[in-house]
Formats: sequence, structure tokens, C-alpha cells
Amino acid sequence: MGLRSSRGILRGTVNFLPRETSRLVLRAIELGDWRAIHRYMSDPRVTTWLPDGVMNEEQAQAFASKNAGETPEAIAVLTKSTNQLVGHIVFHPWAQPRTHEIGWVFAGSHQRRGYATEAAKSILAYAFETLRCHRIIATCQPQNVASWRVAEKLGMRREGSFRQCILRPTGEWWDEFFYSMLEEEHYLR
Ligand SMILES: CC(C)(COP(=O)(O)OP(=O)(O)OC[C@H]1O[C@@H](n2cnc3c(N)ncnc32)[C@H](O)[C@@H]1OP(=O)(O)O)[C@@H](O)C(=O)NCCC(=O)NCCS
Repeated sequence: MGLRSSRGILRGTVNFLPRETSRLVLRAIELGDWRAIHRYMSDPRVTTWLPDGVMNEEQAQAFASKNAGETPEAIAVLTKSTNQLVGHIVFHPWAQPRTHEIGWVFAGSHQRRGYATEAAKSILAYAFETLRCHRIIATCQPQNVASWRVAEKLGMRREGSFRQCILRPTGEWWDEFFYSMLEEEHYLR
């Protein structure tokens, strides 16, 4: 997911109030979440298509600290049944007014249960109905089928496929799919 630097008017998850779905609770990230975040973000199978790769403990602490602070860019996702933090939804302002980027990351042990789609659907509702966003975008690599399947299950539209547009520290170039949903499309669903 292209975690680009955020610019924009809205600060999407400041004062984010917990939201519930049928199986999940979404809430602001807290400082003490870093261990749970580190557990899955240190797994290279989870971070294969994340630009910053695996997180060490210090990076997980910094991530929790940033997101527990005044400019959060991600939301914690916990299972209702166990109250366990099993992933996060990236959500932050993007390059235009009323435009946010959304992304999804879940622990390997909790993938393929529909959690990413369930959590992201709740954040899309928050984005359009509470924040009054105009457009939500998501990006992913073509090889990351699980990620673009989530975007498509949410009803996001693939707008483009960019060739070799992201340079990795290894010198490798990544292709990228670009998805979006507009406010009017959210209300048509
Ligand atoms: C992408 C990710 C968040 C999806 O989470 P998830 O909770 O498993 O997603 P869901 O269960 O809601 O739906 C996933 C869809 O992708 C499919 N899918 C899941 N893993 C897949 C895989 N390895 N290969 C192909 N399809 C896969 C599922 O079958 C499902 O589609 P379907 O309902 O049509 O069958 C998860 O795989 C993940 O955390 N990956 C690592 C982090 C990452 O790459 N994030 C995105 C960066 S762009």
C-alpha cells in the first residue's frame, strides 16, 4: 500500500470514536498496542508488499506513539470475541481536500476470514458519512491479490495500473494498481 505523506484538510482519525462491526471493534491506536502491532508487523509474510518492510520493536513503538498522538494515520482492529488486536486499517488525508487513503494490514493468523473487508467497510462508512469525504483511494501491487480483492469487494473501482512507478531500496521497481470510491458511489451501494 502506498503510504504517501499526508496532505489535506481533514485529519481523519483525530478523536476517532470506537466503531463496532459484527465481529470487530475499531478504535484509536494506544501506546500499549505496540507489542501486538510488532507481533504481526515483524512477520515478513505480512510486510512483503508494505513499503517500509518489517518493523523492529523500536519502529513498532514509534508507530503506536504516532498513531496515539495528534496526527494518527491508522486505526486498531480488535476481535470482539477475544479483544485481541489483530490488525490495523491505514486511513489518512491524501493529496486533495476531502480525500483520504485507506489501507489494510492483518496478522497472518487472522487473514482470510473477511476481517479486512469488514473493518474497511466500516471505515468507508465513517469516511463518507461522518467526515463527508468526497473520494477515498487505495493502492496496492498487482501481485498482492488479497489486497486488491479487498478493494474490489468493497466496491472500489480500479482506476489505473501504473508500471514500475515505485522504486524499492533494493533497486527493484514495483507496479501499482490504483483504486477509488466516490461519495456518490458509496450512497448507491
Ligand atoms: C491484504 C489483507 C489485509 C487481506 O486481509 P483479509 O482479512 O485476509 O481479507 P478478506 O478476508 O477480507 O478478503 C480477502 C480476499 O482476498 C482473497 N485472498 C486472501 N488471501 C489471498 C491470497 N493469498 N491469494 C489470493 N487471494 C487471497 C480472499 O479469498 C478474499 O476474496 P474472496 O472473498 O473473493 O475469496 C491481508 O492479506 C494482509 O494483511 N496482507 C499483508 C499486508 C498487506 O499486504 N496489506 C495490503 C498492502 S497494499
